[in-house]
Amino acid sequence: MPSMVPEPYRIKAVEPIRLTTRAEREAILANAGYNIFFVKSEDVYIDLLTDSGTSAMSDAQWAGLMVGDEAYACCRNYDRLKDVISDIFGFCYFLPTHQGRAAEKVLFSAAVKAGDYVPSNSHFDTTRANIEAVGGHAVDFLISEGLVPTSQHAFKGNMDVKRLNRFIEDVGAQRIPLAMLTITNNFGGGQPVSLANIRTVKEVLSQHGIPLFIDACRYAENVYFIKQREAGYGNKTTLEVAREIFSYADGCTMSAKKDGLVNIGGFLAMNDERLYQQASQLLILWEGFLTYGGLAGRDLEAMARGLREALDEKYLQHRIGQVRYLAERLLEQGVPIVEPPGGHAVYLDARRFVPHIPQAELPGQALVAHLYLEGGIRAVEIGSVAFARKDEKTGEWTYPELELVRLAIPRRVYTQTHLDYVADVIIELYHKRDQIRGMRYTYEPPFLRHFTARFEFV
Ligand SMILES: Cc1ncc(COP(=O)(O)O)c(C=O)c1O
Repeated sequence: MPSMVPEPYRIKAVEPIRLTTRAEREAILANAGYNIFFVKSEDVYIDLLTDSGTSAMSDAQWAGLMVGDEAYACCRNYDRLKDVISDIFGFCYFLPTHQGRAAEKVLFSAAVKAGDYVPSNSHFDTTRANIEAVGGHAVDFLISEGLVPTSQHAFKGNMDVKRLNRFIEDVGAQRIPLAMLTITNNFGGGQPVSLANIRTVKEVLSQHGIPLFIDACRYAENVYFIKQREAGYGNKTTLEVAREIFSYADGCTMSAKKDGLVNIGGFLAMNDERLYQQASQLLILWEGFLTYGGLAGRDLEAMARGLREALDEKYLQHRIGQVRYLAERLLEQGVPIVEPPGGHAVYLDARRFVPHIPQAELPGQALVAHLYLEGGIRAVEIGSVAFARKDEKTGEWTYPELELVRLAIPRRVYTQTHLDYVADVIIELYHKRDQIRGMRYTYEPPFLRHFTARFEFV
């Protein structure tokens, strides 16, 4: 049996969940046009759609809500958050935002102009969209192992530094206002980036005078992997590792809905005073005054407390342990997943799970539908529905390399029994995988297809 780290918390408040019948789920899913985003939360038994904004807050965070200072300007919670961010991340300036994409919008609007390039190991979709929205190009240089589901590379989120270097020489540093590293890499399976890689990326960028920004949503999970897997870091504290990571960066964007352990919140941080001043103007325009940025005082307090809790090593050990436990249970039965498991989710490899379904018949989406029908589990497709591109002239499709289904584990929400249930449902489904049918669109929206498309079984 896979080993499980016991929960480093006890439960003080509970929220009932209900398992519907198979007949109910068939009707619910058909009614939702076979798009899991349209299924009501109360009709989901185990919700693994995302780990973003779905964390359970601690008693200390809930208590923090009561000391929210709701003054418009310069509330005390801003100062608390400032102290925490300065202690962990060490940047000179920060701006609170209501979530990660707001920080991205402010950053790219201030720093990127039409025709510029922003390289990354792997841009998240909102990051890419915000760069493209100001006319920039988002380019990815993930190491090749990051695209091979069975590769056992310890840091599959690493940037391919050679390709980065060549790219800078080809397009010229003046067209690259900044580069990014997403830690951990959500799209490649929640895979970590090593400190050695972060250091080398920084060296290359410094030679060309290009600043490095970190997409820090899951930085604490990345810290834990560095401690576990990278020589020389095992005896350092999580805080020491975090500080070293950010010492190589010129700024970061943060969705605190992940490793800030809050349901809403984020920030943008940087060292460059001029950039801070430009970003401040945009923040006031889009989010709010510099000391609240689209959040209530109580939200700032919960974020300040959550950022500290997310670096607690016992918490991280359990958190990453939960993901590993689910992954090991599936692997024991031969269920194909992205290996080794990442920090926040287990990713089913749909191409190997249902090899009889061609990419044109949306194998990931079919798997998502069947997971719901089988056990009321909500997962999300990260494959052709999200990423395939159609050539408008020829009507021809280009399909993504990876066809994944993400089972994201909310932080501090589900117990081992819930994970056992999820594993049992998936294993049972895997045993009768031949019966899984492909899907096709009945409605295909022009943008961000996966959110609003409708489907039927082939
Ligand atoms: C890697 C990464 N960057 C940025 C974001 C955007 O954050 P938010 O959803 O808070 O806007 C996400 C959200 O899932 C993410 O996973």
